[in-house]
Amino acid sequence: MTFQIKSIEQYHSVYQKSVEDPEGFWAEIASDFIWKKPWDTVLDWDFNHYKVKWFGGGKLNITESCLDRHALHKPNQPAIIWEANDPHEDSVTLTYKVLYERVCRFSNVLKKNGIGKGDRVCIYMPMIPELAIALLACARVGAIHSVVFGGFSAQSIADRINDSECKMVITTDGAQRGAKSIPMKETVDDALTSCPSVKKVIVATRTRNPVSMIKGRDVWWEEEIKHVTMDCPAEEMDAEDPLFILYTSGSTGKPKGVVHTCGGYMVYSTYTFQNVFQYHPGDVYFCTADIGWITGHSYIVYGPLASGAITMMFEGVPTYPDAGRFWDIIDKHKVNTFYTAPTAIRSLMGFGDEYLEGKDLSSLKVLGSVGEPINEEAWNWYNEKIGKFNCPIADTWWQTETGGIMISPIANITKTKPSFATLPLPGVQPILVDDQGEEIVGNGVNGNLCIKFPWPGIIRTTWGDHKRCQDTYFSIYKGLYFTGDGCQRDEDGYYKITGRVDDVINVSGHRIGTAEVENAINMHTGVVESAVVGYPHDIKGQGIYAYVICEEPPSDIHISKQDILMTVARIIGPIAKPDQIQFVTGLPKTRSGKIMRRVLRKVACNELDTLGDVSTLLNPEIVAELIEGKLKLD
Ligand code: WT7
Repeated sequence: MTFQIKSIEQYHSVYQKSVEDPEGFWAEIASDFIWKKPWDTVLDWDFNHYKVKWFGGGKLNITESCLDRHALHKPNQPAIIWEANDPHEDSVTLTYKVLYERVCRFSNVLKKNGIGKGDRVCIYMPMIPELAIALLACARVGAIHSVVFGGFSAQSIADRINDSECKMVITTDGAQRGAKSIPMKETVDDALTSCPSVKKVIVATRTRNPVSMIKGRDVWWEEEIKHVTMDCPAEEMDAEDPLFILYTSGSTGKPKGVVHTCGGYMVYSTYTFQNVFQYHPGDVYFCTADIGWITGHSYIVYGPLASGAITMMFEGVPTYPDAGRFWDIIDKHKVNTFYTAPTAIRSLMGFGDEYLEGKDLSSLKVLGSVGEPINEEAWNWYNEKIGKFNCPIADTWWQTETGGIMISPIANITKTKPSFATLPLPGVQPILVDDQGEEIVGNGVNGNLCIKFPWPGIIRTTWGDHKRCQDTYFSIYKGLYFTGDGCQRDEDGYYKITGRVDDVINVSGHRIGTAEVENAINMHTGVVESAVVGYPHDIKGQGIYAYVICEEPPSDIHISKQDILMTVARIIGPIAKPDQIQFVTGLPKTRSGKIMRRVLRKVACNELDTLGDVSTLLNPEIVAELIEGKLKLD
């Protein structure tokens, strides 16, 4: 743990250095990893014609920093501790040596099945150790993984596979989540009816329910690993070669494939992991995210493993068999660091304190929160009931595009404040701007959150469409990376993220584009037009509110709503199902025909006092109908 900050004074001086001499700052951190060849230049960049290159000329394979070095120096230390969905099933510990061997073996399986450097591999799996092994094996042979979260539909998988022309899919027969058994392979089969690029499917067994296995295309994981050795040298990668693609939603169009690269991402995810959580060798660290999201990539797999940490993987859900499951896992494995999402905290808080009875939780030292703003009530409950006023809470703000944590307390060093992400990590230069892009200086201010200088984990491109990357992130405010978030900087210079300022909503920490949901609803038979907005939701943070115009008024409103939900689940996945559907005869439009989303948001949020002037609308009379319909829903 060579680059851990140890005091607030040191934080300030290191921060200063990171601004004055960013190249020196990052070079020192990067030197703590395994490089096959050192870099020639630390940083080349241009935010106007977006281009960023970190550790140019450097050669490496991220798995050598994550596995080889630890397998050599501490072969018997646990790397991954896996906890099954069913509390009665034995947990599994993979030591660094065993993980290394399994990754090498599976790397050879990939090679044998035609996968090599630069090939794209789609991974659609539940939270089992094979998932982490699959990611690392791709990295080892230089293939680019594209993990798709298990809550996405066949159509969403197909869209992602086709966008990056994946040659292979790695999946399982099924998944076990809570009391539910979920068919994974079947969903992949449905997706593959429209994915000509996919030549091979590797299926790991988990539930062993019957699955179709197509000759020449589908093979079993367990069978394949029998026929290869566990000797697999790591492919030499350029620092700027892509490591993975992860699709995420924006305000327009289809999800974008965010591309992260081998060198910068490795340095950034590891540096932030070690600092934010102040990880000490031997600590047991438990991040509850799914590896289908960036949090799982950076803070279950790559950051912790490159740090030689003990990282947990949990297959199940927080409420199975009951709402005390997280606390049981913490006690069972003596977890020291616990990192979860506000939506989970709010949901467990809602079940009542009886699920905390008899739980010890005294192993905990550090708590983390991620994915959405954490409200004060949830923060205080987390602090009191879980942390016992004894564990700092790191409210970590970051994004799929940033690769790692950007603004966050450093555990035990930064003084925390409920619902504040507090201060930028050294190496991160936030700036608030107004809608015209003018910098808002001083404290006690609000603005659009941008970052003015690159960091090693920054998005490199959006797969197959660099212009989209430039337009989305670097063109709205000239010379700045725009996050899409609104932000307050208080009198102490502390940052509080106030939520998205674009048409992206954050439902239970899942990022969903309103346009995507609208497109899915519009595919439903009889729907003429729809508009989707977010509204405050007690547990999920934000809920999805859909206004829908049909050709004919639905004869059975309840059934029609259920049908629409099915269509959305088919097209995107169950995570994008609207929480509220209101049938309307029109949408408020400006004279130029643009939907007035502000009015829709105000009605959905019950903020009728601040509806503002609607008289300039093309159809002002529609507003009364919207309000009346909304009241009926409540
Ligand atoms: C969006 C990014 C960060 C990994 C998981 C989500 C929101 C994230 C916080 C936080 C307030 C937060 C932002 C951001 N967000 N963390 N600590 N406080 N808001 O990654 O799916 O790319 O979503 O999540 O709105 O832009 P993502």
